[in-house]
Amino acid sequence: MYNVITICVCGASTMGSGIAQVAAQAGFNTIQFDVNTAMIEKSKAGIEKSLQFLVEKQKISSEEKSDIFSRILFTSDIKNCVADLCIEAIIENKSAKITLFNDLALINSQQTIFATNTSSISVGTIAEGVANPAMVVGLHFFNPATIMKLVEVVQAEKTDAIVVETMVAICKQMNKVPVVCKDAPGFIVNRVARHYYLESMKLVELNLANIENVDAIMEASGFKMGPFKLMDLIGMDINFGVSHIVWEALGKPERLTPSIVQQQKVEAGELGRKTGKGFYKY
Ligand SMILES: NC(=O)c1ccc[n+]([C@@H]2O[C@H](COP(=O)([O-])OP(=O)(O)OC[C@H]3O[C@@H](n4cnc5c(N)ncnc54)[C@H](O)[C@@H]3O)[C@@H](O)[C@H]2O)c1
Repeated sequence: MYNVITICVCGASTMGSGIAQVAAQAGFNTIQFDVNTAMIEKSKAGIEKSLQFLVEKQKISSEEKSDIFSRILFTSDIKNCVADLCIEAIIENKSAKITLFNDLALINSQQTIFATNTSSISVGTIAEGVANPAMVVGLHFFNPATIMKLVEVVQAEKTDAIVVETMVAICKQMNKVPVVCKDAPGFIVNRVARHYYLESMKLVELNLANIENVDAIMEASGFKMGPFKLMDLIGMDINFGVSHIVWEALGKPERLTPSIVQQQKVEAGELGRKTGKGFYKY
């Protein structure tokens, strides 16, 4: 197993910020990096608020909060991103992710693991773009990363088995439930869940139900969150992007065609909670 003491989380939006908090809470020295300084400030304030909430709920003491917070270095300078494990949670764009891994490889050692939190891009194709694909693995956290237990550990064709073993151990140390998956479109959860979103939007598109009804019914039937609330939480752009990539990767089957309803939301900039409006207003 590789020895992981420092974790660098790249991207400080919804996912990166949550993963950085999880890493620091698990005792790792954590670096939270984003090219956008405003996102770094937002992540810093968000993590502080989230830890304070845990103090108020008596889940952690004030002292633990200070310890956890002091373990995180917030930075917009890539030179600070020297770590045993780099987890990228930047925009869902293959070439951006490859460029970042290559830039990080210049300042890190041969032993550094490069994990991608991609929801839908093939981990193998990201790995092909870097010098040492054996050190590239998928580490797919779910939103909100601080709460959701599941992490899909995606083993691409060339991923070193010891890297996978290390990721499973790291996830357990983070109090998560790791599941090792194959590098197939949508992995497991996003492949299965596509229908949850797409069929719900189809009902609305055909005027057979409204969003509030669909959410209420699905929640009453046992789902923790209705599909429209969930898409607002995930981010419309992210969810639409995943639908597109999975659909294309599987040969564009009719049943997985991305929804026009969601496309219109993306085009209108109504991306969900992060923009204050999606299917609902926030
Ligand atoms: N949103 C979700 O529910 C969810 C769930 C699981 C996985 N994911 C995946 O996690 C990743 C991040 O998603 P998100 O919704 O948190 O992000 P987002 O798209 O809202 O934001 C991306 C962030 O990355 C930063 N960034 C862009 N290029 C960068 C670079 N080269 N170096 C450092 N930072 C850079 C941006 O400034 C921004 O803060 C994506 O790959 C997404 O598919 C998202």
